Amino acid sequence: MSKKNHTDTPANAPFEHGADWQQRYDDASTRWERGGLNPAFVHWDNGGQFNTLKRVIVPGCGRSPEPLAFAHKGAHVAALDFAPTAAAFQREAFAKAGIDAKVDAADVLKWTPEAPVDAVYDQTCLCALTPAVWQDYADQIHAWLKPGGRAFMLFMQTGKEGGPPFHSPLERMHEMFDPARWVWPDEPYFRADHDGGKFELGVVLTRR
Ligand SMILES: C[S@@+](CC[C@H](N)C(=O)[O-])C[C@H]1O[C@@H](n2cnc3c(N)ncnc32)[C@H](O)[C@@H]1O
Repeated sequence: MSKKNHTDTPANAPFEHGADWQQRYDDASTRWERGGLNPAFVHWDNGGQFNTLKRVIVPGCGRSPEPLAFAHKGAHVAALDFAPTAAAFQREAFAKAGIDAKVDAADVLKWTPEAPVDAVYDQTCLCALTPAVWQDYADQIHAWLKPGGRAFMLFMQTGKEGGPPFHSPLERMHEMFDPARWVWPDEPYFRADHDGGKFELGVVLTRR
């Protein structure tokens, strides 16, 4: 089966992007999957950051275990992913656990919740999107959250051109998640390493 060139990403075609992501599931080319909870999730959970969450959105959820983990903590979860394999996986995981959740095979740039929520958990969804749509995505996260709601962001650090995953420099993140609209915590930020030198910086942003 021929594979597309993943560095040649159309700037204005998120749905072509989506076809590409489904192809990765079809090809079992899913090296981003950790096979367990992200260390940043565990860190935030141990610190009690998830204790009071009633409603959480997990955009670009893939087949990650975090949506179900949020549900086990008592939150109502909306898990989004436009790759049918990912949405089907999450539906089955919630059904097996007997937990009611909203799983939508939807584009994160177009989807809206019924009501603003307490938290958004972004685990490498941003870096999966072409940087040309990043501001639109940041605006979506802002619109999804209640005032005082929190965005648990894992900003991918590759130090390289191209993607996905796209390097997400903190300078650009500050522009997109403007301190006039978001409260930024002080550094240092939690670091979650990947194989091959990439790592994510875990930053909890509070929506003003
Ligand atoms: C790098 S994977 C991360 C998956 C998951 N969060 C994890 O940690 O395993 C990125 C995911 O985002 C999804 N995705 C990419 N662009 C999307 C979009 N515009 N709308 C919805 N899902 C998208 C892909 O299908 C893929 O499952």
